[in-house]
Formats: sequence, C-alpha cells, structure tokens
Amino acid sequence: MTAISNKNVRVSKVEKSRISEVDFSNLVFGKNFSDHMFVCDYKDGKWQNPSIIPYGDMTISPAAKVFHYGQAVFEGMKAYKDDNGNAWLFRPDQNFKRINRSSERLAIPAFREDYFFEALDTLVSLDKEWIKPGDGNALYIRPFVIATEVGVSASPSTEYKFIIVMSPVQAYYKGDVKVVVAEHFSRAADGGVGFTKAAGNYAGQFYPTNLAKEKGFQQVIWTDANEHKYLEEAGTMNVFFRVGDTLLTAPTNDRILDGVTRKSVIQLAKDAGVNVEVRRVPVSEIVEAANNGTLKEIFGAGTAAVISPVSAFSFQEKVYEIPKQKDSYATRFKKALMDIQYNRAEDPYGWRYAVD
Ligand code: COI
Repeated sequence: MTAISNKNVRVSKVEKSRISEVDFSNLVFGKNFSDHMFVCDYKDGKWQNPSIIPYGDMTISPAAKVFHYGQAVFEGMKAYKDDNGNAWLFRPDQNFKRINRSSERLAIPAFREDYFFEALDTLVSLDKEWIKPGDGNALYIRPFVIATEVGVSASPSTEYKFIIVMSPVQAYYKGDVKVVVAEHFSRAADGGVGFTKAAGNYAGQFYPTNLAKEKGFQQVIWTDANEHKYLEEAGTMNVFFRVGDTLLTAPTNDRILDGVTRKSVIQLAKDAGVNVEVRRVPVSEIVEAANNGTLKEIFGAGTAAVISPVSAFSFQEKVYEIPKQKDSYATRFKKALMDIQYNRAEDPYGWRYAVD
C-alpha cells in the first residue's frame, strides 16, 4: 500500500519529547503514550479542524453523551519498525473500513478516509522514535470516536471527536493464556453490536472475565448467546482450534469481530496448504477432540495479542490441558505474520503500508 500525502492536517509539535522518561524494556501495555495525538471534531454536519497536537488531557463536559450512553467506537492497530529503521503499518485500510462499520451501527457519522490516512502518516512519522525494532515491539495505535454533544437525552449525538493516541507496547499476554468457556454470560446477541468495536462490548466482558481471573484464567471464550453451544471469540481475540491438522474458526457474523489478524491467519494458513474450515465450532466437538487427543492447539489472534497460544480451557468445571506442539500452527503463522509486519519477508498480499 502507498502513503497518501499530508494536505489537511494541522500540526503543532511538542517543545520537548517525553521519550526519555519511558523505560522501553518494562512497558505495561497501553500505559505510556507518545508525544503527539490527532484530534478532529464533528460539528455542523461535518468533520473539521483535523489537528495533531501534543498528547495531553482534554476538557469534556460531564454531560457529553459518551458518558451516559456509551456512544463510542475504537480501533486497534500497530506500527512496526524494521532493522533499517523504516516504519510500517499493517492493513490500515481494514481498520479504516471497520471503524466506519462500527460507527454506522452506533449512529456515528463516517470518518473521512483522507483525514484518517494523513493523520496516521503524520503521527507515526512524527513519533517514529517511539517505535522500537525487534519482535513484539510496536507502537499500538488507538483511533477512537466519542460523542461529545452536551445533553442527556437518549439520542445520537450531533457532535463527536475522532482521536488517535499511540502507545509503545510489547506482548499483550506474557506467558500462557488459559480460558474459560462461557456457559452463562454472553458477549453478543443476534442483531446486536458484537461485530463492532463498540467500547461497551469490552466493558460488558470485564465482570465475567474477573470471575475467570479469580479462578486462574485470563480470558473467556464466548459462546453463542442462545444455547452456549458454539465457540465464538475471546474478549480481545478471535479464536482458532487445530483438530488433527485442520484449523477451525467461527465465521464472522453480527456477533463476531471481523479481526484483521484473524483474516490474515486464515489466508496464510490456506496458502501454506493447511485445511482451514470457517464454520460453527461446537463446544462438544472441541471437548471430544481434547478427550481423544486430536485437539492439538487453541490460539487467539488479535492486533494486541498477535497470536497467543491457549494452554488450557475450562468447561463445566473440568480443565482440559492442551499439550505443547513441536511445530505448532501458532508459532508458524505468528512468524509468517510478523515477518511481513516487520518487513523481513516478501509481502505477496500488499498488506504492508510504508510510513514516510
Ligand atoms: C486489539 O487487539 O487491538 C484490541 O482491540 C483488543 C484491545 C481490547 C486490547
């Protein structure tokens, strides 16, 4: 993909960078933010004043609709640095399309493509020093939209802010991930907002995930809300199951996020000759595979989590351990993905996007 030149975004740079205050070898995910951020207002029926300004607190009315009705959507992306110091994004067109799909569902006006790409190009190149090279290091990019109209009537806001902040990160999950299969709580329902990155989708998972954490698990794998019979996605990741040598994952629909890492893994696996089945995955099938030894892997895929192997799952109070594989799909496709992201391999798909 090629970069779009900067025509609209006004830039006001920091006087002094805060980068020397950050310990890059001990980063906590999403706790430090780079020097600049992007802000654009929606007012009088149009997006206006796209600006890059020093990262910092903002003043927003306590009556802004986002605080009352959660009218907010977000995206997760990363910028990577190769060994020659060049910065890259990964499939940013997908994030742009998805934030507008999320916005549409929450009655938020679509953002402008030219502003989005100009903002990303300019921000990432301004704060390029915040991207460290090396596997797992990245600048996590968080675009989001919030409803800023003052007023607590339950109706769509007429004013919004589109903001992008960026945070230097390492791996999201350190070590193994253990998951609980949801048997009572649900993340999303038919016709709902599960396919969007609506802020509330994540808040709704915090309580059940806390219960899972109390039992020593990191995540919940959500099942369909009707019967809790089919495996859908984990809180911050889509999920894959390897039964024998076949890779299974649930199809996207109005309950499941159309993950960029998910669709990239499907493509990489198919092109590597792996049999990939995108279909409903019954819990019973995975339990049976765990019992008869054909369940070789479960892994999650997401921008923050990249590809995270799941070492155990719990269902009906029983814990199923997944034995470690020597040549795991998780390791293989994580490497293939990161080789493209970090510009170490050919990119036959055109997924890599150069930042000037
Ligand atoms: C991402 O992977 O970018 C996500 O949005 C997950 C996030 C909640 C950490």
